[in-house]
Amino acid sequence: MFITQTGTDISVAAAFLQQGMCVGIPTETVYGLAANALDEEAVLKIFETKNRPHFDPLIVHTHSVESINSFVKTIPEKAKLLMQAYCPGPITFLLEKQTCIPDLVTSGLDTVAVRIPNHPITLQLLQQLDFPLAAPSANPFGYISPTTAKHVHDQLQGKIPYILNGGPAGVGVESTIIGFENDEVIIYRLGGLAVEAIEKIAGKVSIKTNESSNPKSPGLLKSHYAPAKKLIFNSKPMLQGNAAVIAFDKYIDGYPIEQQHLLSPSGDLPEAARNLFTVMRILDNGDADYIVAVKFPDEGLGAAINDRLKRASVKE
Ligand code: TXA
Ligand code: MG
Repeated sequence: MFITQTGTDISVAAAFLQQGMCVGIPTETVYGLAANALDEEAVLKIFETKNRPHFDPLIVHTHSVESINSFVKTIPEKAKLLMQAYCPGPITFLLEKQTCIPDLVTSGLDTVAVRIPNHPITLQLLQQLDFPLAAPSANPFGYISPTTAKHVHDQLQGKIPYILNGGPAGVGVESTIIGFENDEVIIYRLGGLAVEAIEKIAGKVSIKTNESSNPKSPGLLKSHYAPAKKLIFNSKPMLQGNAAVIAFDKYIDGYPIEQQHLLSPSGDLPEAARNLFTVMRILDNGDADYIVAVKFPDEGLGAAINDRLKRASVKE
């Protein structure tokens, strides 16, 4: 047990990480639960703290493209272009790993997921450390990802010594995960960097986010990112019972306005993404019996929002 402190002191966070402990860290997407990626015992603590199954590999966070070179074998041409365009940023690359990355981090896979988070405090922290940080989202396995330090504290207090507070996450959904087959870019998880932005640099991509029984990316399990309450996604209104509604920019018919939550009254998808998980958490802790969510426009960050709502709606 720890008395969990929340603060903005990078050197305190660094000291705990150097001692092999887990620390909550801000990123532009969601908060992460970080530990030394090169230290198996530290990485094991991440799995224990989150109740995460060992078959679900972790993303390794670092501060520069040069440092990525020290733990992957090669960086394909298209990955280099995407890194130039969007790193630091909400994109994760699956690349062939070097042996310095423990098998525990990758769940025995030959590839490691790497990303450079675009958050000033965490970039400074990574620069101070002489190791990269393995970090999944800082929530119990399967639950909604945290987008504020308080969300992390609400769920992990007592389990970690420190949460580095970097304010509310600016993007609000997890990074887009891509890999490479031959020369082709494959998107395995829709996320904070829009498909359109990736295609602008890398040309046409394939999207493979639906594997579920033995997923390449277990964040792609059919049920994930889920509130405890039943969530009904994109179906006709059910008028009975006490529902709370997640809508985009307009109230929908069939429910009282006071039960409805607009993620962006001005119709801005990045704003809607930024608000999504906070609103899901508020509704999960509120007194509605169930949550109804509309389908968002399937473009830009709307695709990632729809993906998360769909997975949140599956109960297995
Ligand atoms: O935005 C993000 O990516 C956040 C912040 C904290 O960086 N992290 C995050 O981590 O969402 P996590 O662990 O909640 O989700 C990472 C996903 C998991 O679905 C995992 O299965 C997949 O990445 N993944 C990690 N390494 C992989 C690999 N080598 N091959 C395939 N999928 C991998
Ligand atoms: Mg997660």
